[in-house]
Amino acid sequence: MTVDRALIEQAAQLLRGCARLAVLTGAGISKESGVPTFRDAMDGLWARYDPQELATPQAFARNPKLVYDWYTYRRELVAGAAPNPGHYALVDLEPLIPEVTIITQNVDGFHRAAGSRTVIELHGSLGEDRCSANCRGAPTLVKPGAALPAAPGEPPRCPYCRSFLRPNVVWFNEALPVEALERAMQVSRSCDVMLVVGTSGVVQPAASLPYWAVRSGAKLIDVNPGMDEIGPAADVFLQGPSGEVLPQLVDALRTPA
Ligand code: APR
Repeated sequence: MTVDRALIEQAAQLLRGCARLAVLTGAGISKESGVPTFRDAMDGLWARYDPQELATPQAFARNPKLVYDWYTYRRELVAGAAPNPGHYALVDLEPLIPEVTIITQNVDGFHRAAGSRTVIELHGSLGEDRCSANCRGAPTLVKPGAALPAAPGEPPRCPYCRSFLRPNVVWFNEALPVEALERAMQVSRSCDVMLVVGTSGVVQPAASLPYWAVRSGAKLIDVNPGMDEIGPAADVFLQGPSGEVLPQLVDALRTPA
């Protein structure tokens, strides 16, 4: 899919004068890696579960094994996938712009795997388990080899206090890691341009970051094949899948105006 050349050029022009770029990403950037977005319908075994109903502390309290297994399924999906040209295009921006910071809502680790150097993970990481009671402080991470093995019908348990283990991700109705959120707000308030990629823009507080950026004088570019909540506020809206749009943007930026 080729995006309107004039719009790509407009976005490139914003980036040419940019010293500090903040990039806010959501599940859409990993879609072309084969990882379903949060609000996509799931298929197979999980088709009848709503992710928004599984990703809560209440769901874990009701049925820890179900929630833990769902994350095992998501981990396997991610383990069998890899970053796509959208993730790599963001890495390619680093030599072109003095400061590039990725703020991601994704827990798949693909930005770091692709080689992005400064990544703020707002919603934690799928690659880690922690004690659900955080018995040794937040977060009490537990390496796979250290976990007490799962009894039938249960998740594995914490080796220190025997509470269930859970993925080190942020669920609905939970607070974000304070340090990550503070850094994300500071980066959003001090960037020249914010590039938003593949998020529906409906989950707070991440969805407010583009508005903090605009209020502080930044320009806004949004990339999404569909419309999202942030698009109407964008200076340039690039409609298309990020695995195609972002490499075109990098090419335009490399070409002198
Ligand atoms: N390229 C870019 N964007 C895409 C692509 C693509 N190839 N395919 C789909 N999208 C867009 C969709 O149009 C949608 O706007 O990605 C967005 C995905 O939206 P969500 O599924 O809502 O994901 P996200 O915004 O990351 O959700 C935020 O909600 O459930 C929680 O914690 C979870 O981090 C997640 C948060």
